[in-house]
Amino acid sequence: MPAPKKIFIKTFGCQMNVYDSERMSEALAQQGFAEAAAMEEADVVILNTCHIREKAAEKVYSDLGRIRQVKTQRQEAGKETIVTVAGCVAQAEGAEIVRRAPVVDVVVGPQSYHRLGELLGRAGNGTRAIVDTGFPEEDKFGRLPARLSNGAVAAFLTVQEGCDKFCTFCVVPYTRGAEFSRPVKDVEAEARRLAAQGVREITLLGQNVNAYHGQGPDGRTWSLARLIDRLAAIDGIERLRYTTSHPRDMTDDLIAAHRDQPKLMPYLHLPFQAGSDRILAAMNRKHTASEYLALVDRIRAGCESLALSTDIIVGFPGETEEEFAATLDIVGKVGFAQAYSFKYSPRPGTPAAGIDGQVPDRVKTERLHRLQDLLDQQQTAFNSACVGEVMPILFERKGRRAGQLIGRSPYLQAVHAQADSSFLGQILKVEIVGAGPNSLSGALAEAVPRVPA
Ligand code: SAH
Ligand code: SF4
Ligand code: F3S
Repeated sequence: MPAPKKIFIKTFGCQMNVYDSERMSEALAQQGFAEAAAMEEADVVILNTCHIREKAAEKVYSDLGRIRQVKTQRQEAGKETIVTVAGCVAQAEGAEIVRRAPVVDVVVGPQSYHRLGELLGRAGNGTRAIVDTGFPEEDKFGRLPARLSNGAVAAFLTVQEGCDKFCTFCVVPYTRGAEFSRPVKDVEAEARRLAAQGVREITLLGQNVNAYHGQGPDGRTWSLARLIDRLAAIDGIERLRYTTSHPRDMTDDLIAAHRDQPKLMPYLHLPFQAGSDRILAAMNRKHTASEYLALVDRIRAGCESLALSTDIIVGFPGETEEEFAATLDIVGKVGFAQAYSFKYSPRPGTPAAGIDGQVPDRVKTERLHRLQDLLDQQQTAFNSACVGEVMPILFERKGRRAGQLIGRSPYLQAVHAQADSSFLGQILKVEIVGAGPNSLSGALAEAVPRVPA
């Protein structure tokens, strides 16, 4: 029997790409592919790409340059390499990728990767590059083999894809297409499989996850809050999260779920992007600064322990110093446990790219530094405030030191503690004894039963 072909997948971008890479890897494993430890050993290299900012998209081309060298070396050794570009750059640029990087054999968009096995079968051996970036009628999820776990105790599960919001800076509505929600029964079946394989925490994913409106088992449309309650009833699922949310879609039932559903973690990623109402309107965010603040108050009123993270853009076209100060103001008022902040990056085909008054890069850099100083202070303060608390920690993996495990707090902080490896996959009470900017250290705070030898 010939040795199995090997694949190597490199993932860029958001958690939805991480999920997609896992699904591609599982599907190809069922077709006899094994995972390669290094790109040089791979018969199939897949770059699962991100188009959100220029830097992310350009990274793909520098990687393709390196892959070209690997492919040539392998060719000299008589081995073929099929180079695949998947994900959002594939969708946005399509055949243009092959023109710029002729090393590419297959281009496959985020809605077509269930066809990847077949595309790979047709590719290579000097054939023309294959480009599949359609939004096919058939349900991608329905055509993928049933979900497998990779042994992790925390997993991602995509429940919603695409976006109909069309923020003027953003490529997602073009790369991922229109909003689509998976039916409750499909999501539930996938969650049950994950639970049966040892998964204890599931993060529900969607570009606009709280706009979820999937078909329920009763034939009606279910909201994200109802879906969360349904999944919380699955044996073995101890924790649920969801990301990313749009402030406009924080419905009353979802806010209530943070109060009433104990398995829903008290941590919410709620991007606000900018603090000036004029900029928010130009971004087409459809909310004002005061609406955002009022929403945060309402959510916190129901769930006092809730912490927030966010996404922020600095230097949107036309942003004045005063308007940027309004962004700092929101950060000061809310107090974030964590945040992602970016310099505005003009994206081809998006309305904002054509607006007059693009902000010079040095101004964006300077604003980003000021913003990140404040965000770093808030993150450090949040972590420090955890010292002395006893928190439930889900132990996920072994640490670098002997006898050490690393787990996650309800607030997604990494927590190191001395603990027996038999506690992997369990949630234990841990007293937080130390805090750094990016992680916490703790000590087991409960008498834990010894596991029989
Ligand atoms: N659906 C999510 C965001 C997905 S993109 C939401 O609506 O919040 C992740 C983040 O990338 C965005 O929240 C935004 O802060 C940032 N982003 C998107 N387009 C960008 C651009 N053109 N330049 C800089 N940052 C951008
Ligand atoms: Fe992009 Fe806006 Fe949609 Fe988020 S809501 S994915 S930022 S268009
Ligand atoms: Fe990037 Fe596509 Fe996600 S553009 S952020 S990989 S949806």
